[in-house]
Amino acid sequence: MAAHGENVLMAKFTLDLFRYDEKVDDVPHRDRVEIDFPETSTVLDALEYAKAEVDGTISFRRSCRSAICGSCSMNINGVTGLACKTPINTVMRDDRSVKVDPMPNFEVMKDMVVHMDPFWDKYSRLKPYLQPADRDEDHERERRVSPEDMKKLVAVANCVMCATCYALCPVISVDPSFAGPAAIAYAYRFIEDVRDSKRKERVGQISDDYLWLCAHCYACSYCPKHVEPQDDIIALKRISIEEGFTGAGPRHALVVSKTIRQSGMLNENEVIVGTVGKFNFKGLLKIMPLGLRMAAKGKVPPLFLKPVENVNEIRMIYDALEVPVG
Ligand code: SF4
Ligand code: SF4
Ligand code: FES
Repeated sequence: MAAHGENVLMAKFTLDLFRYDEKVDDVPHRDRVEIDFPETSTVLDALEYAKAEVDGTISFRRSCRSAICGSCSMNINGVTGLACKTPINTVMRDDRSVKVDPMPNFEVMKDMVVHMDPFWDKYSRLKPYLQPADRDEDHERERRVSPEDMKKLVAVANCVMCATCYALCPVISVDPSFAGPAAIAYAYRFIEDVRDSKRKERVGQISDDYLWLCAHCYACSYCPKHVEPQDDIIALKRISIEEGFTGAGPRHALVVSKTIRQSGMLNENEVIVGTVGKFNFKGLLKIMPLGLRMAAKGKVPPLFLKPVENVNEIRMIYDALEVPVG
């Protein structure tokens, strides 16, 4: 907690806190806790002060107070982040309050403490440990990695498993089966580790499982440790295509890419058929009622698209970015 020294500027403000105890409460309520505290301190410091001096039942997780342990992720004025890395004066609202809620996308246990099991289950499912080809039980020699190979893993090695990205991900909120950005970033960490021997299996698992549910909204780029899981997701999608995986996800990406390269526009008919699979008669039969309903309402997109003017410029962008095309 920040020292209340002579040079520390004290400030009166309100912590507007989410309160709920799953063991006793039917519905959550809010408490407004007034404190006089240095506003250059962090939100976690303010919560610690409120708990120590005002109400000992206020609950939240924390440990290191240095953005290392990943425990104190919570929602501050509607944005999830680490409370120990968030200075109060950067989030103070006009009415001199700071609103604190638990992370979204999790069930609440008590106040800001949430049930983390889904997050950890998805992470464990990806076998987040090195599986080298030759097990060296006696550890007689090092497994050396070149600085060049290590560069790819540096960002993800900074992950503190705080689940901020998981809480920010809109896909998790609509489809809880999605692994979420942190677990996928960890899969990438082992897939790109030259010491690991399970590259193909890992890419297959992540590709079949949930990788392609990511909507590329970039919300997880708000990672407090700058891991940039959204970049690892894009890299993994590319790797899964290069490794020859052909599920609906890769098919969709390739056919979208192909139609835009051809005409500069999305050919929706070709995208639907290409995603379901040209020879997947069962799948095509399944979507036929939707096609008929669209036809009845006059909403069937044109079958053939004339290339837009200067379509060559679009193709040059594709070539420059080496975009895979189906
Ligand atoms: S990727 Fe970033 S936001 Fe997500 S768990 Fe790791 S450190 Fe937290
Ligand atoms: S980029 Fe993908 S993983 Fe990241 S928050 Fe958006 S949908 Fe979720
Ligand atoms: S208390 Fe450890 S990350 Fe905030």
